[in-house]
Amino acid sequence: MKRSLLSIEDLARADIERILDRAESFAEVSGRAIKKVPALRGRTVLNLFYEASTRTSSSFELAAKRLSADTVSVRAQGSAVDKGESLKDTVQTLSAYDPALVVIRSPWAGAAELVARWTPAGVVNAGDGKREHPTQALLDLYTLWRRVGRLDGLKVWIVGDVLHSRVARSNILAFARMGCEVTVAGPPTLIPREIESLGCRVRSSLDELGEADVIYALRMQRERMEEAFVPSLREYAERYQIDARRLQPHQILMHPGPVNRGVELSAQVIDSPQALISQQVESGVVVRMAVLYELLASGEEEEGVAASATTAAAARARDADGAVAERLPDGSEHPIEVAPGEHLAAPAGPRP
Ligand code: NCD
Repeated sequence: MKRSLLSIEDLARADIERILDRAESFAEVSGRAIKKVPALRGRTVLNLFYEASTRTSSSFELAAKRLSADTVSVRAQGSAVDKGESLKDTVQTLSAYDPALVVIRSPWAGAAELVARWTPAGVVNAGDGKREHPTQALLDLYTLWRRVGRLDGLKVWIVGDVLHSRVARSNILAFARMGCEVTVAGPPTLIPREIESLGCRVRSSLDELGEADVIYALRMQRERMEEAFVPSLREYAERYQIDARRLQPHQILMHPGPVNRGVELSAQVIDSPQALISQQVESGVVVRMAVLYELLASGEEEEGVAASATTAAAARARDADGAVAERLPDGSEHPIEVAPGEHLAAPAGPRP
């Protein structure tokens, strides 16, 4: 059965908890000298990256390899995409390798949904334009849960360029689903209208930041800005930078990376013990292993992983059935040819 992860909305709280538990069991594998289990032996994972990426692409690749999958990684630059091949043609061409899963990052909102229609493989959205980046949200939940021991009731402030951030959208949904109280804060020009509907409050100043248990800072995404959204980066930093003056000793600091040092974060707080930034990167591998496993192997005979997964979580997950929503074409109208540079609207209508 084909299973995909396109949005955090595909996941119920119990699904998220199961993924976090499983990631924890894979953390044990990552601690070994030989960091490999045979769970996806003989399966092919295709990583298709149409946009710059360091952490996400490397951790998906490593995750697939640690599960013994074969991996093919294609970057738009240097591929036939560079020669004008459409996303659809590329996906259909690479489907000849019979991948079990396609991991796609692209600058177009909604591209992952389209890819899911064009390939019989499962699809993981590794970031689609400004829309969603579900595995980032999952690794952030995992990192925070490992540090604090709980998520319920935590006050999380997401600060900065919310408008251009797919991480913000996925994280608001994910933190809210896990029982956190989410506030987004930033200059009004960088807060999308009606963002509250995702389950958060909005503030345009950091006056009440002291109440936060967790400060999740976002990068100023200058590459997505076609106009000036703030008078200057200096003024932005003056009002919204998380620095030693604003970060209180009881607060945890997170950031998805890459960080603009001296803009959204001061150098001092990046290196403080309160910052979980490098733990977030580390969590990327085990959480993506858990997602690949969940989509491709759970429900099957757990040869190999049964031997390696040490926690009761893995046993629980063996019983889980179809928890990550299967995504079926909903019949609504979308362009079927996507040329690089073309912006896709998010598919309308209810999710299955
Ligand atoms: C994020 C992204 O690409 O959306 N980074 C990441 O995946 N580690 C956030 C960002 O680019 O600011």
